[in-house]
Amino acid sequence: MNLLVTGGAGFIGSNFILYWLKKYPQDKILNLDKLTYAGNLENLKSVENNPNYNFVKGDICNLSLVDSLIKKYNIDTIVHFAAESHVDRSILDPAPFIKTNIEGTYVLLEAALKNKIKRFHHISTDEVFGALPLNSKEKFNEKTAYNPRSPYSASKAASDHLVRAYYVTYGLPITISNCSNNYGPYQFPEKLIPLAITNIIEGKKVPIYGDGLYVRDWLYVEDHCKALDLILHKGKVGETYFIGGLTKDIPNIEVVRKILKIMGKDESYIEYVKDRPGHDRRYAIDWSKINRKLSWKPEVDFDTGLKLTIDWYLKNQDWWKKIKSGEYQKYYQKQYQK
Ligand code: NAD
Ligand code: DAU
Repeated sequence: MNLLVTGGAGFIGSNFILYWLKKYPQDKILNLDKLTYAGNLENLKSVENNPNYNFVKGDICNLSLVDSLIKKYNIDTIVHFAAESHVDRSILDPAPFIKTNIEGTYVLLEAALKNKIKRFHHISTDEVFGALPLNSKEKFNEKTAYNPRSPYSASKAASDHLVRAYYVTYGLPITISNCSNNYGPYQFPEKLIPLAITNIIEGKKVPIYGDGLYVRDWLYVEDHCKALDLILHKGKVGETYFIGGLTKDIPNIEVVRKILKIMGKDESYIEYVKDRPGHDRRYAIDWSKINRKLSWKPEVDFDTGLKLTIDWYLKNQDWWKKIKSGEYQKYYQKQYQK
């Protein structure tokens, strides 16, 4: 395959590129990334000299650039990760979310159509389905109605609708995956798990929004990459697949308690702070369709995944300390010191 990976310098995109080049060394990957605050080429140091890997710094909203790259690199498959991805930033300023997540996806779809791309895979999120009540057995599945509640999830919902519309209207060969909260190496330390781990290493408190009883469905990033691999090789065009983890309704406060326990610290590190506006109470994913159709299931249980992740952040302190000493400080002040 000749893949165009968008947003490959981010958390999941870089994990995907490293996974793919190891498993399919004969395939070629072009990584198109704007290198926003979340993009980091250090994630890809180990492959930068691989002749089957190329990187172009650029914006997915630039149609002539995307069109020329698809032609130049003879791209047959697009794997679209690029997005503004952090809910709290979307609340502070929705503009880049509307631009990249909606307009950027539209530009990629246009270029894909024009160049007769064989597969356009769109990476989306469970957040587009809104919030489930606590203490219920309800889960999101492929039939759940869209109900986004933050500027981030609304922009991702719009992008999902566009992708599906290009399949229905123009016959573009698409697949979509909606997945739950990823965690693992190279995650930007604005998200709960890496924020907690790195704050603890720095001797700082971990901010817990509201009552801390919000629930997420945690998925180790490598399991996500394996699901994408199956969808790209065996998935049915036009279909949507839900990807979720092995956690069973674990509240945020318990996630942080687990991290503290593994790191040998006590609960004095926990600090309850003002809640996120419009905070979605609970997410849970029914991943039985991808299990039935493509034989995928998550393999890494939460305790193992957390240990692997904590270990990675302990061993790669230069990686996140550089990030935390830059633009991040301004964001952190704005977000947490109001
Ligand atoms: P991330 O924020 O870590 O990385 C996003 C990447 O996209 C960065 O490298 C950034 O530079 C790049 N980018 C942003 N705007 C761009 C533009 N206009 N042109 C080109 N590149 C641009 O995000 P992530 O956590 O790796 O998420 C990747 C995808 O997965 C997103 O689409 C996100 O919505 C989705 N997703 C993430 C999670 C999660 O838990 N992280 C869960 C479900 C779905
Ligand atoms: O569900 C998939 C989504 O998961 C992805 O689409 C998003 O790109 C990704 O950012 C993530 O969104 P969340 O908002 O769920 O992730 P975040 O790590 O920001 O927050 C996880 C939970 O922890 C959520 O309930 C909010 C809470 N939280 C978060 C932060 C950053 C805190 O209590 N304190 C914090 O400081």
